[in-house]
Amino acid sequence: MHMQKIIVANWKMVVKKEQLVSLVEVVGQADKTNLEVALCPSFVHLTEVASLINNKNIGLGAQNCFWVEHGAYTGEVSAWDLKDEGCQYVLVGHSERRKYFSESDEIINKKLLAVLEVGLTPILCVGETKEEKDAGHTLERVREQLQKDLVNVILKDSRIIIAYEPVWAIGTGDFCKPNDAEEVQSMIKEEFTKITGVAEVAVLYGGSVDDKNVAEFLKQNSIDGVLVGGASTKVEVLGKLLANSI
Ligand code: 13P
Repeated sequence: MHMQKIIVANWKMVVKKEQLVSLVEVVGQADKTNLEVALCPSFVHLTEVASLINNKNIGLGAQNCFWVEHGAYTGEVSAWDLKDEGCQYVLVGHSERRKYFSESDEIINKKLLAVLEVGLTPILCVGETKEEKDAGHTLERVREQLQKDLVNVILKDSRIIIAYEPVWAIGTGDFCKPNDAEEVQSMIKEEFTKITGVAEVAVLYGGSVDDKNVAEFLKQNSIDGVLVGGASTKVEVLGKLLANSI
């Protein structure tokens, strides 16, 4: 179990430029002694957020990246450039990327390896769909994603964070019961160790986390933090969520 709980805000394509100052302010004011907090704005807001979080003990993450360092890839952003922009984390394999941009496990693996090569921390998202859950295939599906997404991973000084995000729980208000998430997350820890040989990994839960349910999630043994979408885009809710996380 991690001593510091990890709270990652995924602002997706939701947060607007004019919201950045007030959102960073509320995170800056929160008591973060026992928290590792990271904000993941859209690419175009990274530079501004990087300057707003300066000296506030807040991390910066990107929501996606490309796996090549440099070259003629119109519209893409490399992990190397994200590092130059001040990022420490990159979300990889979010279900919205898998769904809307057809990202395969092979692509996700390439991105993850690039993020590690640059020395940033990938936050690898895995999770089952409603159909897979209803068919009783949750553990099998998540295990399969881990096996494919973590191919050729060698961890020396770097780390990976895993986020368990059941697809059916994202943006629906229908969050996974903390007990059920605990079961999947403890499997993730075991499987991660089997695949990488590394004993410890932080595993976050994501999917309709808000200020009211966050504490219950963080109480679970195998839940080292949360990856928050909607609730992290509203100043008041985000402030309460952080206050309820310590
Ligand atoms: P919500 O918190 O809006 O359900 O989104 C979760 C998520 O996808 C975070 O990456």
